[in-house]
Amino acid sequence: MHTDRRVAVVTGAAQGFGRAICAGLAARGTDVVAVDLNACAQTLKEVRAAGARAAELIADVSDPDTVPRLRALLDAEFGRCDILVNNAGVYPNTPFQDVDLELWQRVLRINLDSQFLMAKAVLPLMTGRRWGRIVNITSNSVGLPATGLSHYMASKMGSIGFTRGLANDVAADGITVNAVGPTASLTPGGRAGIDPEVVRTLAAGQAIKRPGEAEDIVGTVLFLASEDSAWVTGQTIMADGGLVRL
Ligand SMILES: NC(=O)c1ccc[n+]([C@@H]2O[C@H](COP(=O)([O-])OP(=O)(O)OC[C@H]3O[C@@H](n4cnc5c(N)ncnc54)[C@H](O)[C@@H]3O)[C@@H](O)[C@H]2O)c1
Repeated sequence: MHTDRRVAVVTGAAQGFGRAICAGLAARGTDVVAVDLNACAQTLKEVRAAGARAAELIADVSDPDTVPRLRALLDAEFGRCDILVNNAGVYPNTPFQDVDLELWQRVLRINLDSQFLMAKAVLPLMTGRRWGRIVNITSNSVGLPATGLSHYMASKMGSIGFTRGLANDVAADGITVNAVGPTASLTPGGRAGIDPEVVRTLAAGQAIKRPGEAEDIVGTVLFLASEDSAWVTGQTIMADGGLVRL
């Protein structure tokens, strides 16, 4: 069933920031395609509870084969894609001496190649309607003296560079591209993978002195996904409680 409602693709949608972003988009009347390695049952439930349509694609966003699979789902189920939130990512903390080429390339593939691949998948649909919003999730760590994150920071600075470059190439088609940088936050991934002492120390340095939660970046993402941000493109907004200032 094709309708005139906007459709968003959100990657890494099974939990954490991705789940919260899907719920926020649905509450604003946007239909959602949730993409994740894992099933997105809770996300789909929340999107549908908000009255929006939901579809799920269980897929690896760093795999080029996901591009035609996503296009086929969008073509069959929605006939459009207006918003892409490139949120899927991994952040293993590994001292540089232990980062081998395999880990380096894995992190670059999941965090950066995926943003390129998903943009490739949806841009023809956005260009056709001459309207689109792409939001790439980066990280405030790129502005911090963080240790064990050389591979991660390379991927997230890559995301910022990709955001700046792509914004120029698609502006004439009514498409904006921006990045959002969260701080260390208490998502499932953050709780499992970030040293609680690091979360506390970072929070103490923020203007707003508490750890981030999944919901904390949703408002910024929704603004960049909306009509209201039409004059904003190629930018990075740190939605991080006021830690890193650009
Ligand atoms: N939580 C933090 O402290 C923090 C801080 C700054 C930036 N970020 C960024 O925010 C984003 C989301 O982080 P989160 O904390 O919600 O993480 P999370 O681990 O809680 O959730 C990430 C989701 O992405 C999915 N995913 C991972 N690799 C994938 C792949 N190859 N293909 C498809 N799905 C995949 C996972 O299955 C999971 O559902 C990431 O890009 C991360 O780098 C997180």
